[in-house]
Amino acid sequence: MPVNTMHTANTLGLAGAKGGVGTTALACNLAWALAQQDQRVVLLDLDVRTGQAALHLCERNAGPTVHEALQVIERLDSTLLDTLLTPCSPALRLLPAPRNWWAWPEEPDRNAEGLLKLVRTASELADWVLVDLPKGAMTHEGLAPLMQHLQEVALVTEPTLPATFNARWAWQWLQEQRGPSRTHSLVLNKMHKACTVPGHQLRRTLGLGDDDTAWRELPRSDAAVAQASYQGQAVGALTPKDPWARGVSQWAAELAARRTAQLANTAEHTSDAVGPNTASDEGPAGAAPTGQPASTLAPPLWGRGAWRERLMRWAT
Ligand SMILES: Nc1ncnc2c1ncn2[C@@H]1O[C@H](COP(=O)(O)OP(=O)(O)OP(=O)(O)O)[C@@H](O)[C@H]1O
Ligand SMILES: [Mg+2]
Repeated sequence: MPVNTMHTANTLGLAGAKGGVGTTALACNLAWALAQQDQRVVLLDLDVRTGQAALHLCERNAGPTVHEALQVIERLDSTLLDTLLTPCSPALRLLPAPRNWWAWPEEPDRNAEGLLKLVRTASELADWVLVDLPKGAMTHEGLAPLMQHLQEVALVTEPTLPATFNARWAWQWLQEQRGPSRTHSLVLNKMHKACTVPGHQLRRTLGLGDDDTAWRELPRSDAAVAQASYQGQAVGALTPKDPWARGVSQWAAELAARRTAQLANTAEHTSDAVGPNTASDEGPAGAAPTGQPASTLAPPLWGRGAWRERLMRWAT
């Protein structure tokens, strides 16, 4: 069945300017918060060497990983990918990074194509595909096509000198290497009163004005973030009033509103072009009609044995 672009996902990659700035914490919590907004979300942990998204969201149930998906990439379609994803909440599913350290295969071209296909396939299953990108994603040969493909990249940084130094370079790379139709945003995470680099200075370094909408600040929130990741839960689920959780939730609400507006716009144009009651508003197989609350989707498959059984059925 041809995929109607009206139903394919928005894609957002999160890339850290430096290690440890909170990219994974943000990717996981934003994915969770988007799902709370009745958006169907697939989170791909492409930090294949050290990815820890599963730790943040659903360690106990984490099933097949990016490694397994790439092993069956030739015949990966939305039906097969659907069986590989681990449900974390009714509307949020995760493809975790391999649990053992796994080096990127030697063939960057093949790898790059595979990752692109993975993201495209995931796009048929969700409203949002979020990608936790590994450190150095911008200079990684195997990620180059994906970095061009993602609709939006959020560069995550923190208010320290080393991170700011890298962020400046990474921001410039995003401006120059991704086309003008692509969106970039900046997230200043772990902001606090005694920052070495205050927010306004950080933004000025990157050439962003105070009225620029392409950046957001999120506070440092040691106890809440640590406690949530220790328990494998989203911060918003445990401490919804925490300022960081609220900031992430606000971001999710803005993204959800943007998608709703895009869909309304597309629907208007589609009905102008093809008239009502045509087959054009059919989504991909297995996808819920847009606007249907995510909580009414098919219940997730829980349990350790179940995923393995389903994977074996497809992979052999
Ligand atoms: N706003 C925050 N306030 C306090 N601690 C935070 C915040 N955001 C993230 N952290 C903590 O910072 C540490 C690094 O976070 P995380 O692993 O998400 O960073 P990363 O950029 O993905 O790192 P890596 O480069 O290893 O992938 C974690 O201990 C996390 O709990
Ligand atoms: Mg990370």
